[in-house]
This record gives sequence, structure tokens and C-alpha cells, in this order.
Amino acid sequence: MTRTTVKELIAGDRLNKEVLLKGWVRTKRGNRQVAFIAVNDGTSIHNIQVVAEAEKFSEELVKNITTGSSVAVRGILVESPGKGQNVEIHADQISLLGGCDPEVYPLQKKGHSFEFLREIAHLRFRTNTFGAVFRIRHALSFAIHQYFNDKGFYYLHTPIITASDAEGAGAMFRVTTLDLNNLPRDEAQQLDFSRDFFGRSTNLTVSGQLEGELGALALSSIYTFGPTFRAENSNTPRHVAEFWMIEPEMAFYDIYDNMDLAEDFLKYLVKYALEHCADDLDFLNRMIDKELLERLNFIVENTFVRKSYTEAVDVLMASGHKFEFPVQWGNDLQAEHERYLVEVAFRRPVILTDYPAEIKSFYMKQNEGGKTVRAMDVLFPKIGEIIGGSQREEDYDKLVNRMREMNIPEDELWWYLETRKFGTVEHSGFGLGFERLLMFVTGMSNIRDVIPFPRTPKNAEF
Ligand code: 4AD
Ligand code: MG
Repeated sequence: MTRTTVKELIAGDRLNKEVLLKGWVRTKRGNRQVAFIAVNDGTSIHNIQVVAEAEKFSEELVKNITTGSSVAVRGILVESPGKGQNVEIHADQISLLGGCDPEVYPLQKKGHSFEFLREIAHLRFRTNTFGAVFRIRHALSFAIHQYFNDKGFYYLHTPIITASDAEGAGAMFRVTTLDLNNLPRDEAQQLDFSRDFFGRSTNLTVSGQLEGELGALALSSIYTFGPTFRAENSNTPRHVAEFWMIEPEMAFYDIYDNMDLAEDFLKYLVKYALEHCADDLDFLNRMIDKELLERLNFIVENTFVRKSYTEAVDVLMASGHKFEFPVQWGNDLQAEHERYLVEVAFRRPVILTDYPAEIKSFYMKQNEGGKTVRAMDVLFPKIGEIIGGSQREEDYDKLVNRMREMNIPEDELWWYLETRKFGTVEHSGFGLGFERLLMFVTGMSNIRDVIPFPRTPKNAEF
């Protein structure tokens, strides 16, 4: 007999038929006559209640069915009289697949803190919250491909190992096969990377954008969706050292087309979650954040506010609000400023454009006068910056000048510069932090709880 998942059983079309369910025991309760065993297999936020009459099973077996053990249950699926569940299985056969000693099993019925669950990340998938979070993570990954495929974008796989620093931020992880105890040095006692695996210094990528641009400048519209690495030593609830980024890049798009795409994309993803993850979102709305569904619907239904960085600074300065970090034209905005704009000043998602050139990357299109660039950041409630992007500088001379000013090595990026010599065109793109999106959609307040195995300073367990 083939196994049926909890998700399929709840759908109801196997009512009054014999079924086979396999899964892990969440709880067991009952009395001398009957045991009620809640089984979950991760396909749904709901459990299936298994009703086991004592006379059909040995006392030994029932005793060994403990929280955390795995079972296979054969029986008839019937409508459930109990509240909170629509179907249950009246068991005829139960086999214990793997026992679980309740004395040492770390997951107990009582709720655990997310901090504790991070220490047992190998088991936290078995909780309701993490089951919901990772089902939503899957659904949104799928939706991202759906969205771009429907729009005629091509999925481009950009390299994870790279010799260039796309963001110029310098916070990169080195990739090497050199013997760290015996490093080769040249005559000037400098490290000799010509002896390294790639014959040069290499790192894990901080962004697929530069290669993404090469794709867009031939295929028109591409997107990347892959792991991204930043060695910033920032221990915040919104940063991880390894995260997933979605980076669309479009030829013939200016900053306004770019903003329209970003807004449409975010609304599509939130709507997709509302439509396809309703049970999991209902659970999170009840247990994690009572305003979650309201906030998600609000995003779908409202137009984002579009302002310049300069206008935003004026609003912040005029607010009279006491910020931890001072607001001043030319300084980068901190999360507290971004959230003030979104949650207090405009009460809607905000797209800010035209940031000071000094605080943005070399590749952004320069505005008249060169003081500001055609950057765009999308700011979300509870999150702050969720997307960073820009129109790109397509003028060869302006780009080279900017690279010199910022000490970006031209010779290493010769291939990037050549696209501005051979049929250059207006183009734009942005990067969406996948985990930031997931924080927003699930209501989870720490980024470590929306990625299966978070990488943060001093932490690479599992
Ligand atoms: O603003 P960022 O640094 O932009 C880029 O990397 C551009 N190359 C994107 C592009 O134009 N193609 O990063 C983009 C987004 C941020 O808005 C944020 O959501 C996320 O990536 N992000 C992080 N998420 C988690 N942990 C970190 N350490 C992150 N750093 C950036
Ligand atoms: Mg940014």
C-alpha cells in the first residue's frame, strides 16, 4: 500500500478508505481503552489524530510510541468528532519505525525559545513554527522562478567563486588552497597568489550583479537567485554571512522601470504566499505576530511611496524624533531611520532614490553634477531595506572616472568595462535579500530563523 501524506489526507477525498500514514509523533494522550496519537509528516501545519484502541495493540507498543518517535499507521480515515481537526485515522496496524527516548529528546510539548531551537537546528524543522517557515521558504522560491519565467526573464547562474569585488565593500571570504602554515611569498615578501589554485586571489561572491549585467546586455532580461556571502562582522537580527539574493538585471530599463518591477515583484510574492500558504500564515498570525496578515494584505493593496534620499533626510530632520544615529545629508540611513520613514512618516513601503554618490557603489548611474546617483532602495515595515538597486552607469568614460576615484582596479574588471564599449545601453537592476523577504512574510523577527542553517560570526554549526 502506498503512503498518503497528511496534506493529502486533510484534503479529504480518501474519506472512509483505508490509508497508510508515516510520520513523527507529536503527542500521545489517552487512557486504558484508547490512545490518541498526533502524527505529523511535515507536509502540513496540521497533525492527523490516530485513534488506537487498546485491545488491538500490545501495551508494549503503545508505551514505546513517544513524542519524537516515527510510526507507520494503517487504518480507516474517518471524519473526526473532535474539534480542531476534520479527519482522523482509526488504526488497525501500527509499526514503530524508530523509537525516541523521551528522557533525552530535546523537543518537549511546551514551547521552546527560538534561541534554544537554534542550538538544535537539526531538530527544529519538527516544530510547528519552523515547519511553517520552511514550507513558505519553498513556496516563495518557486514563486520567484514562476514570476520571472512568466515575464520572459532568463535564470542566469553567476559564479560563487570570483576574483572581483562587486560591491567594493571589502567584506569578502577568501577562497584558497594555499597551505596556511606555509604561505608562498614573492621577493617583496608579499603573498604570492600566482601559486594559488586559480593563479590569483579569489573570494566568495558578494553579488552576482556584475556577471548578471553581462547576461542582460545580450539576453535583455535575466535574474540570478543564489547564495551570497558577506564577511561583515555584524551581529544584528537582519544580517547573516551567507544569504540568498535574487538579482534581476534588465537592458533598456531606466530607474522608473526598475522601481515598477521591484514593486510589482514584491506584491506578487506576498500575494502568492497569501494564496498558497494560507494555513501556515494563519498559524504564524496566531502564534508569532497578530498583525501579520493585516500587514501582508496592506502591502498588496497599497502603492509604495517614492521619494528621493534628500526628501527623506528632510522629513527625518523635521520630525524632531530622537535617533540613535544622527541624520545628516551624506550619511547612510540606518535601520532606525528607514523604519521611521515607513512606519511613522509615510506608513507605507517607501522607495528612496538618488542617494549621495559617496555612500553607494561605483557602478551606479551618476546624476547631473555627480553628487548623487540613480540608486534605489526599497524600505519595508519591520525590516528596513529589503531591496537595493540602481540604474547602471552605461557611459564608459564616466564609469572609468568613478572607478579611479574609488580605487576600483580597472584591469580586473576589463570585461565589465568592455560592455560599455561594445553597444552600450541603458540598463538597471536590483537585489532582493531572500531572507529579509521571508522575515517580512513570516513575521519572524530574527533572520537566523528563516534560513535553515544560519551562518553568523562565530557560528557555523550544522
Ligand atoms: O544593497 P545590496 O548590498 O545590493 C547589492 O548587492 C546589489 N549588487 C544588488 C543589485 O543591484 N543587483 O544587497 C541587496 C539586498 C539588501 O537590500 C538586503 O535585502 C540583502 O541584499 N542583504 C542581506 N541580507 C542578509 N544578510 C546580509 N548580510 C545582507 N546584505 C544584504
Ligand atoms: Mg544596500
